[in-house]
Amino acid sequence: MTSAAKPSALQRYSDVAVIFHWLIALFIIGLLIVGKFMTSLDENSPVRFALTQWHKSFGLTVLALSVLRIIWRFTHRPPAEPSSIALWQQRSASIAHWILYALMFAMPITGWIMVSASPLNINTVLFDVITIPHLPPFTELANREAIAASFHEYHELASHALIVLLLVHSGAAIKHHFVDKDTTLLRMSPDTASRSFKRHIAGLVVIVLAITGGLFYYNTIDRYSALLAAGESEVSFIALVSSSETPGVFIDSAVTATIDTATPSNSSIIAVVQTGTLTSDNAQVEGSLPDTDWFDSEGFPEARFESTAISANDDGTLAVVGNLTIKETTTEVSFPMVITNEEDTQVARGEFVIDRKEYNIGMRSQSGDGTVGFNVTVKFRFDIGLDPTN
Ligand code: HEM
Repeated sequence: MTSAAKPSALQRYSDVAVIFHWLIALFIIGLLIVGKFMTSLDENSPVRFALTQWHKSFGLTVLALSVLRIIWRFTHRPPAEPSSIALWQQRSASIAHWILYALMFAMPITGWIMVSASPLNINTVLFDVITIPHLPPFTELANREAIAASFHEYHELASHALIVLLLVHSGAAIKHHFVDKDTTLLRMSPDTASRSFKRHIAGLVVIVLAITGGLFYYNTIDRYSALLAAGESEVSFIALVSSSETPGVFIDSAVTATIDTATPSNSSIIAVVQTGTLTSDNAQVEGSLPDTDWFDSEGFPEARFESTAISANDDGTLAVVGNLTIKETTTEVSFPMVITNEEDTQVARGEFVIDRKEYNIGMRSQSGDGTVGFNVTVKFRFDIGLDPTN
């Protein structure tokens, strides 16, 4: 693996340094292009929302790669500059490289602070699988909106500085290669013919496959249906998120019900749901819903349904009417309720559709219905008790 073993006298960067360089360069150029494109789209566009989520994941990947790269840089001396290059050029190149390193960190860190401070509280879910926490001091500040706006500006300014520096950096590399005809660009180019480089690429492929496999595996752990089987009552919902039906379930719900099937008007139902106990296979949904813009679980820990009238329908179901309170809003909802016998127990089931606009749910971050539909189906099931006919 030593350069002495190579036939040419060319002093290259190590294979690992070369791989870091081109991988990070590829990601950064992609992020700059996608960043500019997505911010040119309409604020409520679902494409902008989806691209921003991918942007955040790849941006944090660049941060992780940059940390590894800087560790590598400090522990592995780069090859000496060719002596043919003037000292002032070597010095300016070195300054430019350190500014590039600084921007490689400034870009993701300003982005991370921007989303942490944003009062929209949109979670960062790495490749739609692992929730990355917001940076704690920024979620607690009183003037979050102003801080988020400032960091958006820093993020944009840093991106402009990065674009200029990348142009200078690549322009200089091209000039060295084609005009000065020296080895500057070749030193950072992959030695594709060498066994060592092939081994490193194989190692990289294994690492990427292992991480991707790990993420896939984590994503397939079915926490949702395990929870559905728990508890005597369960309240769940189905929302349309990015055009796919996305279920969620509240782990903690309690139903107090008297059901008189002979005289339905004597029946009553009170259901209380702890809004902060929501779980969903969609980490973005699970992370966001307790936030102020959605259920505001700190300010309003409970959502409540209280029946006002229960009567019999011709088809044998019960017609339930009642008041549903979510946050500060109470509206009347009505739905048919089916009662069935399941293993000696009577079970009540029903579902109804609510419009999240009416309850002011997610109306700051998702004021349109492109990414999260307005209509949400609420489903419930509760055990009434022993089947009296048994
Ligand atoms: C090297 C990494 C990154 C690069 C090169 C990059 C680049 C960019 C660029 C060029 C823009 C458009 C700026 C504008 O003109 O308004 C942008 C926007 C944005 N970036 Fe990054 N970014 C990076 C990392 C991150 C990270 C890690 C996050 C968050 C965790 C992030 C969050 C955002 C957000 C939320 C926006 C859009 C703001 C809006 O919708 O108005 N970025 N980024």
